[in-house]
Amino acid sequence: MPRPLKSGTLAELKAAVGSGAWLDAADDIAPFISDFRRLYRGATPVVLLPRSVDQIARIMQICNREEIAVVPHGGNTGYCGGATPDESGSQIVLSMRRLNRVRQMDAANYSMIIEAGCTLAEAQAAASGADRLFPLSLGSEGSAQIGGNLSTNAGGTAVLRYGMMRDLVLGLEVVLADGRVLAGLKSLRKDNTGYDVKSLFIGAEGTLGVITAASLKLFPKPADTATALVGIASPAQALAILARLRSAAGDQVTAFELIPRLAVELTVKHIAGVANPLDQEASWFLLAELSSPNPRQDLITLLTSELHEAAAAGLLGDALIATSLAQAQAMWKLRESVPEAQRHHGASLKHDVSVPVSSIPRLIEDGSQLVRRLAPEGDLIAYGHLGDGNLHFNVGQKPGADAQVFLTRGPTLEHAIFDLVESLGGSISAEHGIGRLRMAEFARRADPVELAVMRDLKRALDPKGILNPGKVLIQEPV
Ligand code: MLT
Ligand code: ZN
Repeated sequence: MPRPLKSGTLAELKAAVGSGAWLDAADDIAPFISDFRRLYRGATPVVLLPRSVDQIARIMQICNREEIAVVPHGGNTGYCGGATPDESGSQIVLSMRRLNRVRQMDAANYSMIIEAGCTLAEAQAAASGADRLFPLSLGSEGSAQIGGNLSTNAGGTAVLRYGMMRDLVLGLEVVLADGRVLAGLKSLRKDNTGYDVKSLFIGAEGTLGVITAASLKLFPKPADTATALVGIASPAQALAILARLRSAAGDQVTAFELIPRLAVELTVKHIAGVANPLDQEASWFLLAELSSPNPRQDLITLLTSELHEAAAAGLLGDALIATSLAQAQAMWKLRESVPEAQRHHGASLKHDVSVPVSSIPRLIEDGSQLVRRLAPEGDLIAYGHLGDGNLHFNVGQKPGADAQVFLTRGPTLEHAIFDLVESLGGSISAEHGIGRLRMAEFARRADPVELAVMRDLKRALDPKGILNPGKVLIQEPV
C-alpha cells in the first residue's frame, strides 16, 4: 500500500528531475489535479516534468523504495479520470509532456519511434512530413498525447480501417514500477519470441508501467478521398448501407459514423460555423468516408454510384458528397463538435459502449425505451463509430428539465444500459477505458477468472501497488 511522502523524499524526487522541472505551487498544479470532465478533483504535493527515460527510471526507483504512489499524466483528455490523483494528497503526478521527441523515422519500414509526451497531432505531422500516414484520429488530437493514447488503447474515427491504438504498435519502451527499463522498441511486423509483453501495457492506464516511447506503424498517405453526409430513417438502414459500401470498396471504407438528428441540431445551434448541409429532414445522419493511396481510384464516382443504388433500394433520403476539401472538413466538423455541443446543451449522462455491429439497431431501440422509462428528463443522443459497433450512448438533459433531478437518474439508467449491453455481448467501455469512473462496474461485470489474471499481473509487475492506484482494478490488500 502506498505511503505519504516524507520531505526528504520530496527533495530527492525534485533533485531527480533538476530545477525548473517540477511544480508545487497551487496555481501551477491546478491543471494536473482535475480531469477534463471535472468529475474528480484530487491533490498532489508535486508534479514532476522529466525530460528523459533515465530521470523517470530514477523517479520510479525512489517511489518504489519509499512506496510512493505515481500517477502518469498525458494530455488530460481522458473521460474516466485515469490521470487524476486521488484526494489524499500523497500521490505524485508524473507529467510526460517534456518527453516529446521523434526518435526515429523509418519511411521505408513504415514505422516511427516517438516519445510518449508527443501529442497525437505532432505524431500525425511527423508521419506526414515523411510522406506517411499515422492513422489514429480523435477530436482531442491537438492535446491528447501518444502515451495516453497507448495507455487507454484509444480508438476514434479511423478504427474501421486501421484498428485501435493497440493495432498500431510495433514496440514499446516502458519504465517498470521498480525503475527497470523494458527496452522493447523493435520495429518488426513479425516477432514470435515468447509472450507479447508490450501488449500488457497498452490499455493498462499506467497501472503496470510508465510507457515512455513507442514504435508505431505507418501507412501510405491517402491520395484520394470521398466523404458523404447521408440522411437516413433508421439505424437498420445504416447497417445496410455499410454492408453495401464494404462490398463495393472493402478496406477503402475508412470511417462510418452515426449522428442522430438531435445531435446535429445541437451542434448547429451551439458551435459557430457549423451547418446542416442536407435539404431534407432526417432522423439519423451518416458520415461515410472512403480513402485510398491510389490517386486514380475515383472514389467519388464509386461512392456516388453506391449511394444512388442505396437510394433506389429505399435505404436513404438525402445525401451530399463533398466536392471540395472544405466541404469534407465541414462535415467532419459537424461530427467532431457533437461532444462540445452537448457540453453547451446542459448536463449529460455518458456511456461509451460497444456491441457487435449487427446488434446496433437493437441497442438503440431497447436503449431508447430505457431512457424514456428511467430518465424521462433526458433525451437519448447516441452517436459515434457505428462501423466499429461503438456508440457514445449519451443522454442529454431536456431543455427546462431540472439538472439535479435528471442527474439522480444516472446510476439506475447506467445499470440498465450496461445490462442491455451485456445481454447483447457488448462492452461497457469501448474506447474510453476504465480509469476511476468505471472501476466498480468493471469489477462487478468482468469474468472473475480474467479479473484474477489481471490482479496476478498487477501483483507481479507492481508488488507495492504504487502505479496509478485507484484506477482500473480495485486493489486487494497485499
Ligand atoms: C467522440 O467520439 O466524439 C469521443 O469519443 C468523445 C465522446 O464521447 O463524446
Ligand atoms: Zn468516440
